[in-house]
Amino acid sequence: MKQGGSDAAKQAAGESAAETVEDGMVVGLGTGSTAAHAIRAIGRAVDAGLDVVGVPTSFQSRQLARDCGIPLADLDDVSVDLAIDGADEVADGNLIKGGGAAHAREKVVDASADRFLVVADPTKEAERLSVPVPVEVLPMARSTVATAVADLDGDPTLRCAERKDGPVVTDNGNLVLDCDFGPIDDPAALASDLAALPGVVEHGLFVDVADEIHVGTTDGVTVRALSK
Ligand code: A5P
Repeated sequence: MKQGGSDAAKQAAGESAAETVEDGMVVGLGTGSTAAHAIRAIGRAVDAGLDVVGVPTSFQSRQLARDCGIPLADLDDVSVDLAIDGADEVADGNLIKGGGAAHAREKVVDASADRFLVVADPTKEAERLSVPVPVEVLPMARSTVATAVADLDGDPTLRCAERKDGPVVTDNGNLVLDCDFGPIDDPAALASDLAALPGVVEHGLFVDVADEIHVGTTDGVTVRALSK
């Protein structure tokens, strides 16, 4: 996964997106280091009197939002006006997400939002999507999905934990296969192929989901509409 961007660039992007949050909104709270800057900025605005409700996309974003004093709700009870979330790679309006293994819940929240803003630093932008696609799988389907991904010309690797022996286990109790397809010519076709595999809970290709991207640099922020 691409981790090259500076924290200042991520902060600029996150804070730019947070500025679009308006009183009374329900906000989807993304996962990762860039979205965390947006959550902290929303928390400061809540301290200053902004009335919003957050819908977290992971254990991590829920905890951070609680620490920042943002009131939270479940998707059962609210509908999301605006989601703010990071990405591992952005090309042609499409995204690869899941570097933090949170893409299943992220996709549910981000896709349900009236508007979804991506926050990123310039290292995330690419001509074509090409980083490995995270695929969350039921643990008992790990081998069958890996075989099917190989049949799609992908190279699957079980994601291993860094400070635990064995695999990463998602917030949903599942495993992640990082599937390297090289440069992806047709993200929509690959997305539907992956979604059709029995045992796949969710994959990290977000095709035609995002509305706008805020790209932060140390000199400012560029905001662009993304075609849907
Ligand atoms: C979480 O699973 C991911 O989808 C993140 O949103 C993505 O990895 C971006 O994270 P950073 O902002 O930390 O690069």
